Amino acid sequence: MRIEPKNTVGGVVSVPGDKSISHRAVILGAIAHGVTEVHGFLRGEDNLATVACLRQLGVECAEDVEGGILRVQGVGLHGLKAPKDVLYCGNSATTMRLLCGLLAGQGFDSVLDGDKSLQKRPMERVVAPLRMMGAKIDSLDGFAPLKIHGRPLNGIHYQMPIHSAQVKSAILLAGLYAAGKTTVAELGKGLTRNHTENMLTYMQGDNGLVARKIEVAGDFSSAAFFVVLGILLADEGLTIKNVGLNPTRTGLLSALRSMGGHVETRHIKTTGSEAVGDIFVKKSNLNAITLSGKQIPLMVDEIPIFAVCALFAAGTTIIKDAQELAIKETNRLHAMAAELAKMGANITADHQGMIIHGGKPLHGATLSSHGDHRIAMSLAIAAMAAKTPSILKNAHWAAISFPNFFNVL
Ligand code: S3P
Repeated sequence: MRIEPKNTVGGVVSVPGDKSISHRAVILGAIAHGVTEVHGFLRGEDNLATVACLRQLGVECAEDVEGGILRVQGVGLHGLKAPKDVLYCGNSATTMRLLCGLLAGQGFDSVLDGDKSLQKRPMERVVAPLRMMGAKIDSLDGFAPLKIHGRPLNGIHYQMPIHSAQVKSAILLAGLYAAGKTTVAELGKGLTRNHTENMLTYMQGDNGLVARKIEVAGDFSSAAFFVVLGILLADEGLTIKNVGLNPTRTGLLSALRSMGGHVETRHIKTTGSEAVGDIFVKKSNLNAITLSGKQIPLMVDEIPIFAVCALFAAGTTIIKDAQELAIKETNRLHAMAAELAKMGANITADHQGMIIHGGKPLHGATLSSHGDHRIAMSLAIAAMAAKTPSILKNAHWAAISFPNFFNVL
């Protein structure tokens, strides 16, 4: 795909529904009583993988594609059926890790597998705590495919050794099936996204989970590309409507504000269990900052697009403690440094962070998405802000989380 630079952008855009919340809505809807209506469900490839797996587990999911509604016919906590085939999670680690927690305590066996990228993502981080709960799970040295031998579980208290909402959520889902209490404590109180906790509370009935209408707002992680685009190029401002503003997700906004970015949130309200509002950004002069520690989990998916932004700041931006980025869909630290260097950027990456020297204009280049949706979209924004056109190879990976990204762009 050829991307032409722009001198300015502006207007009002919307982004599709939140990926994390859409996954949880299907999973919790499946084990609730009644029909959960998910409005604004994200039809990204990752979420469709979750729907396909739950259908194999005997859950009816009816899609009203035009209305953007998914109706999940809940089967109750103990109503899932043994799947006849392997549960294929595609590229989606959220699907695999959350379902691993859901399936560990069932009265049947199941197998989870995924694409080549997912087969390289670490699964020991969920398998180990689930084994502490009594689960029997076979893996290929800590990698998928995962063979789950469903059996009774016991509650545990788990002190998380890493920052991961997927691990936390897997343990909480298994905890629904465990005897006794399950508690999870987050590492050094650095919080990861809390959508599972919020939705469990929202759907909690007297006798298990009850179906409730879930309105999924725009995904903050998808809005992030337009937030940065606006900070770089929107002379008159750019508005992103109806975006999830859960504080465990919006670390990028805090980072941009501390760099001098013009960022406003407007019309904030609570829908269901989540804060939602509009984001207004305007072209700003930025100064470099250092990001580390508890700031990282609050913007774990936004580090690639943040790196693009930091190239336009005065001074040297340092990102530390971001080792989780090395084990995402690709090594996002190395992938971003390698691709942005092709555009003339002065940027280096190591196993846990990046050093970004800002202030040098970018030129166009032939770029690769590395088969990673967030790399594809981050590079597209860099290409828009460069001086000359770029070619982005394998841009179609954006569809994992943002199917109409290039139309909106
Ligand atoms: C997610 C949690 C994060 C995030 C991923 C989605 C979730 O992963 O990077 O895109 O929905 O729970 P980790 O929990 O592995 O950090």
